[in-house]
Amino acid sequence: MTVATHPKTAEEAAAILARGQVCALPTETVYGLAADATNWAAVGQIFSTKKRPRFNPLIVHVLDAAKAVDVVQLDNCAARLMEAFWPGPLTIVLPSAAHSRVAKNASGGLSTLAVRSPAHPLFRAVLEDWNSPIVAPSANRSGRLSPTTAAHVIEEFGGGVPVLDGGPCEAGVESTIVSLTNSRPTLLRPGAIPAEKIEAALGHPLLAPGGGIEAPGMMTSHYAPTARVRLNAKEAQENEVLLGFGGTPEATLDLSPDGDLSEAAANLFAYLRRLDALGRPIAVAPIPDKGLGRAINDRLRRAAAER
Ligand code: TXA
Ligand code: MG
Repeated sequence: MTVATHPKTAEEAAAILARGQVCALPTETVYGLAADATNWAAVGQIFSTKKRPRFNPLIVHVLDAAKAVDVVQLDNCAARLMEAFWPGPLTIVLPSAAHSRVAKNASGGLSTLAVRSPAHPLFRAVLEDWNSPIVAPSANRSGRLSPTTAAHVIEEFGGGVPVLDGGPCEAGVESTIVSLTNSRPTLLRPGAIPAEKIEAALGHPLLAPGGGIEAPGMMTSHYAPTARVRLNAKEAQENEVLLGFGGTPEATLDLSPDGDLSEAAANLFAYLRRLDALGRPIAVAPIPDKGLGRAINDRLRRAAAER
């Protein structure tokens, strides 16, 4: 890949998408590798750039609920969730609309589509300028740590992908994914909006994933640093570096010395990258499994899984 020229403005980024090329964009969760959702070849470029399996569907990003209607069929429950959490890090899986112009390869041949309305002002400016749906998976090589800065994206693709720099991502973990295509709302991926908040808005608990209805891309081994990762560690052993939480003694890095889960989520991928660069196995202190801690623990379990 040759070295890309990076866009300086949302308009320049939209112009790259209009040429049928991919461009990395900031979101409030992680950086996304964006392309025109209606362009089959552009969507194909996302899969080849990330080396992503073709069966793993992409999230379609839209400005708001009114634009979502162009690509998916809304029901009352979807409307309620969009009203409560959009724009923001909630992705909703719905039946695709018959009139949808989204390229078929975006959804891996499924009859459903995941939609989200990102909150980041630069991504929204691109959506406004472009006025068409944008597919964007996280801007990392498939199976690797998600990028939370423009520098991470440049590192992932050796500078070959243009990036619109919007600074470090605020949330630091990906959107929460809820499917409304089963008999009851189902949590497919814990993420930046705690499941408890979604349950409060719905007035009932979310079904847990399982029974073959997990998101197709939720492979057990994912978000993987090069180094081996050991969880629930009380202290570092032998050659290990230690990723702490809440003031862990002798931590190499601490996700949040004050024990704040939002701060820990924002630091998670960047700290894993920094520790990975040290070339030693990584031990991780226990993280409380509630609120945002569920998304953090989900990513950590996948980082630690057998490859
Ligand atoms: O925060 C985010 O969601 C970020 C930013 C860039 O928007 N995007 C992101 O995309 O995390 P990606 O591709 O890395 O993860 C999307 C997940 C995958 O696990 C995929 O399998 C699942 O969403 N997914 C997409 N479409 C689906 C569908 N129709 N049914 C079930 N799962 C779906
Ligand atoms: Mg991803």
